[in-house]
Amino acid sequence: MKRTVLVTGANRGIGLAVARQLAERGNSVLLGSRDSEAGEDAARSLRRLGLDAAAVRIDLNVPATIDAAVNDIGKSGRQIDGLVNNAGVLHEKPLLELTDSELADSVAVHLTGPIRLIRLLVPNMIPRGYGRIVNVSSGWGSFAEGMGGPGAYGVTKAALNALTVRLAKELPPTIKVNAMCPGWVRTRMGGEGATRSPDEGADTAVWLATLPDNGPTGGFFRDRKPIEW
Ligand SMILES: NC(=O)c1ccc[n+]([C@@H]2O[C@H](COP(=O)([O-])OP(=O)(O)OC[C@H]3O[C@@H](n4cnc5c(N)ncnc54)[C@H](OP(=O)(O)O)[C@@H]3O)[C@@H](O)[C@H]2O)c1
Repeated sequence: MKRTVLVTGANRGIGLAVARQLAERGNSVLLGSRDSEAGEDAARSLRRLGLDAAAVRIDLNVPATIDAAVNDIGKSGRQIDGLVNNAGVLHEKPLLELTDSELADSVAVHLTGPIRLIRLLVPNMIPRGYGRIVNVSSGWGSFAEGMGGPGAYGVTKAALNALTVRLAKELPPTIKVNAMCPGWVRTRMGGEGATRSPDEGADTAVWLATLPDNGPTGGFFRDRKPIEW
């Protein structure tokens, strides 16, 4: 069945790979991008491959863009079946050296932006009895793996993980919400020395975004296998 999936931060990196793989599986993808031109370029690159893709402007630092995007999608008559909270920011500083705006950016992109999107989209998923939410997290936000990431990154990814656990308890089982770590991926964030391609990094998110009805919810995954929080 063809589903519509919104992917944030989809103009490049892992998000673009997630969007392309979802579209290659026959889904319709909405590419969230804070830069309209970059989002449109990315969507066009997928349409050139014959895929069903459109861009939507979402800057997770600007709540009004989230509200407007969801409103416009609703007005166009589209229903969103899946959400991949992929956008991410990495401020490479110890926690106490961050500026207010770097701290706020990390919180907005990894926590409050995803919550706002989920809050807007879930009420439309529940009556239709289907929803897939994927939170692109990181081993750097895992207590079990030692919270290794730079301050705001690790702390806000841990918060995204906590959000995943909490939401899985509050949502009906037809709405599946899971977190995943893509591994170390060759993107602007991961750098050229990383061990995985964007397609490899995207695989587990795509799997979680297309889970069957008996699939897991409330878990944390890497390489399609459960990992510790
Ligand atoms: N690469 C890795 O090794 C690695 C490892 C573990 C986890 N992750 C996670 O994987 C996800 C994707 O990362 P990536 O490696 O693909 O990084 P990336 O290439 O740096 O891409 C990050 C994406 O997030 C977007 N973004 C940043 N701030 C935003 C905002 N305020 N509103 C909307 N979009 C925003 C960027 O948009 P612009 O183009 O406008 O900047 C870009 O599309 C992130 O959540 C990251 O934390 C990555």
